[in-house]
Amino acid sequence: MSHHAWYDAWLERKRKYATAAELQLAAGRFHALAAGKGLPAIHQTSTFPFHSVDDGAARFLGVSKSGEKPFARIYTRLGNPTTEHLERVLFQLECQHIIDNALAADERTPTIGVLACASGMAAISSVLMALVRTGDELIAGNVYGCTDSLLRTLEARFGVKVHWVDVTKAAEVERCLEANPRVVAVYLESPDNPTLAISDLAAVAAAAEARRVPLVVDNTFASPYLQQPFRLGADIVVHSLTKYVNGHSASIAGCALGPFSFMQDHVFPIYKDFGPTPSPFDSWLNALCVQDLGHRMEASCRSALEIARFLEAHPRVQRVHYPGLASHPQHALAARQMRLGGAMISFELRGGMKPARRLMNFFARKDTPMELAVSLGSAVSYIEHPASMTHAGVPQADRLSRGITDELVRLSVGLEGTDILIDALGWGLQGGRR
Ligand SMILES: Cc1ncc(COP(=O)(O)O)c(C=O)c1O
Repeated sequence: MSHHAWYDAWLERKRKYATAAELQLAAGRFHALAAGKGLPAIHQTSTFPFHSVDDGAARFLGVSKSGEKPFARIYTRLGNPTTEHLERVLFQLECQHIIDNALAADERTPTIGVLACASGMAAISSVLMALVRTGDELIAGNVYGCTDSLLRTLEARFGVKVHWVDVTKAAEVERCLEANPRVVAVYLESPDNPTLAISDLAAVAAAAEARRVPLVVDNTFASPYLQQPFRLGADIVVHSLTKYVNGHSASIAGCALGPFSFMQDHVFPIYKDFGPTPSPFDSWLNALCVQDLGHRMEASCRSALEIARFLEAHPRVQRVHYPGLASHPQHALAARQMRLGGAMISFELRGGMKPARRLMNFFARKDTPMELAVSLGSAVSYIEHPASMTHAGVPQADRLSRGITDELVRLSVGLEGTDILIDALGWGLQGGRR
């Protein structure tokens, strides 16, 4: 039996509508859905007038006569029409097949729900708060530094035990689930930040499903263009929209998608009361930026593959982690579950930290493309040092056991162009001297 009252009904519908033989929405359809039919107005308002007392009461009861989100026209902390537009587009990009399958089966009740949030961390914390109670346990893989520290906070302050498991090995997840019946969710990133390890989503989902435990996937590094985890059996998907969906480092935002009854009965009350709501302007900006997401991903992934090959062949580079390279330990799996190899590369230089620092400082210069900065998924390429920046909060022993070495450098490939980036990397690897 599941720990979650919503799980069994969802599982039946997931099997009917969500898991799919085709692992990707066709690229042309993806581009068309992302472009949509024009942008919404920016409803830059905190509150919405009711037509009557009965109308106000009906909206609070969640009644919506014309099919819009019931809470999108009461008060912007609860929802907003501009955000609703963004949510609809994201929903289609992750779940169009679920919509199609459910409509074909004349399904009357909504299957999946979506909420846009003020940051990726707002989406992740809302989902986790909606999943756990004191005394519950979680399984987590190698995750982004703030997700890692959020899990440690849940453990230290709220009595939720976290089992840190190598989720790239589905058998280890299975073993941990078997030994720990109080586990209420499995949480992972694939590709993970920053080692770019890939988890077999279908295999982990099957292990979790056997125990009636939901699988949460942070799909930020892939974006919905490269990977659609519901098709592989995930139950809940979260994103930092700050990254590829925005694509220009112009806003902080996130979103969560999951079984409708989980989102409505468990996530929405957290959302309403904790207030992780995005501003209407940021939702509009993300609705604008998502329109060319697929085309941006195509271009940056193409560059990333060339750059990864260049780095792998470079005498000063010790090791390259890129799922699109044949040398990546899960290359075949990545090719199966992702449309392309992604636009993130991590690598280690021969000689360790000294040349790595020199390379990163080179990109801090004004006359080089790329920036020495955290974040990712932008038109601008970024280079950063996970051990002292994005993952500085992960205890050193855990960091090292997960492959986040002191020498590891993370690169987010943007849209400057392959030749320009390769030329600059070559220049930087020579110590910044021509
Ligand atoms: C994989 C991943 N998930 C979540 C986040 C958090 O997103 P945000 O900064 O939008 O809160 C990040 C940020 O770097 C990330 O890399």
